[in-house]
Amino acid sequence: MTSDATTKTFTLTNDQTGESTKLNVLDGAEGPPVIDVRSMYADTGHFTFDPSFSSTGSCKSRITYIDGEKGILLHRGYSIEELAEKSTFLEVAHLLLNGDLPNKNQFENFKHDITYHTMVHEQINYFYRGFRRDAHPMAVMCGVVGGLSSFYHDSLDIWDPEQREISAHRLIAKIPTLAAMSYKYSLGQPFMYPRNDLSFAENFLYMCFGLPPEPYVVNPVLANAMDKILILHADHEQNASTSTVRLAGSSQANPFACISAGIASLWGPAHGGANQAVLEMLDEIGHKDNIPEYLERAKNKDDPFRLMGFGHRVYKNFDPRAGVLKKACDEVLEDLGINDPRLELAMELERIALEDPYFVDRKLFPNVDFYSGIILKAMGFPTSMFTVLFAVARTVGWVSQWKEMIEEPSHRIGRPRQLYIGAEKRPYVPINKRK
Ligand code: CMC
Repeated sequence: MTSDATTKTFTLTNDQTGESTKLNVLDGAEGPPVIDVRSMYADTGHFTFDPSFSSTGSCKSRITYIDGEKGILLHRGYSIEELAEKSTFLEVAHLLLNGDLPNKNQFENFKHDITYHTMVHEQINYFYRGFRRDAHPMAVMCGVVGGLSSFYHDSLDIWDPEQREISAHRLIAKIPTLAAMSYKYSLGQPFMYPRNDLSFAENFLYMCFGLPPEPYVVNPVLANAMDKILILHADHEQNASTSTVRLAGSSQANPFACISAGIASLWGPAHGGANQAVLEMLDEIGHKDNIPEYLERAKNKDDPFRLMGFGHRVYKNFDPRAGVLKKACDEVLEDLGINDPRLELAMELERIALEDPYFVDRKLFPNVDFYSGIILKAMGFPTSMFTVLFAVARTVGWVSQWKEMIEEPSHRIGRPRQLYIGAEKRPYVPINKRK
């Protein structure tokens, strides 16, 4: 196999036949060049094999860029650090969805559209009663979000740009309401209707923590931290849940069903479920003295235990989101006067792991989920809600990526192939003749 940088082709040579095939090399705006293998099967009779997509670009996208070696995350060209410091979640949502930061007028219109879509159909309340009180809120979210397509028939035509926009706005606006309802249902408390006088983050906190008999005063430090958490989780390129949304959407399924598929994919502990798993892990470790034992377990290939909140498929230097989150975590704990021993334990675990050759050699660093659990716990959320909050934020990324895919004229249904390793063709054996 040779690469030919000057003509931007990549030559594959079949060692058995000696035949050569040139494949085009595509350049993105940033990042490494990409070998275009779309015609490879037709040209060579060979597929590529890349089960976990480590070397596969599944789409062209203008939304998010990650340089994992340098720890860079850009949304539409803006760095995540700058967005987290200077912007708001709704601005970032507009940026991801529409391609640019909004001017004042655009922002007011967008804010109005999202705010006035936060209420859900009253009938949806009855949906919740079908779930057990102790159901995991992510289980509830998978069901209820998928069910939205049965309520909003007027926005299901994916080929109509206006309907696509209404669906996108409905999803961004209603998922926080549904998430808060999942929480309230688990507590046996009444659902809180959204309030249009509050910001996106404030309203979410209100719907989660407010109660009808008394006014709820939003703590600005918590609202600010909530907004940052939402920004930091808003999009992350072609991760498992986003790829799930795109693949589901490639069959022209309606957007509510696609986002529900994304929620299901996010739930796993290797992805969005890691924030819950980190806190459970810290509780299990319990004390600084136990860290070495758990690090040994994480290194032992015969032990399924992994250091949760550590490592990332793309980041091999540091996760830029983790630093911002750690700072927000410090602020929240200080403001609330909470002295959570888990924070100290987490910092000690980080320190020891980052000095350990196993983690250094494999470039395993704390990811966004390492500190998010501690901050969410301090804000009053139970661990079971952590991944739901991730879903609330990521909805805007999923919707933006889904919309981008539908609007790409050349998009086709996603249909990976496989390396078949099963039985060869064999005749059917009647049951009385089977061994
Ligand atoms: N603890 C111990 N060893 C690890 C860990 C970990 N957390 N992560 C990776 N490794 C080891 C792994 O065993 C392998 O070792 P070896 O080369 O000796 O076989 C090496 O590091 C490379 O790991 P990998 O499994 O090939 O990496 P991956 O890209 O397939 O997995 C990951 C990435 C995030 C799933 C994994 O690092 C992991 O399971 N981390 C813990 C869960 C977690 O924090 N997930 C949140 C990710 S960030 C939020 C999000 O995007 O959802």
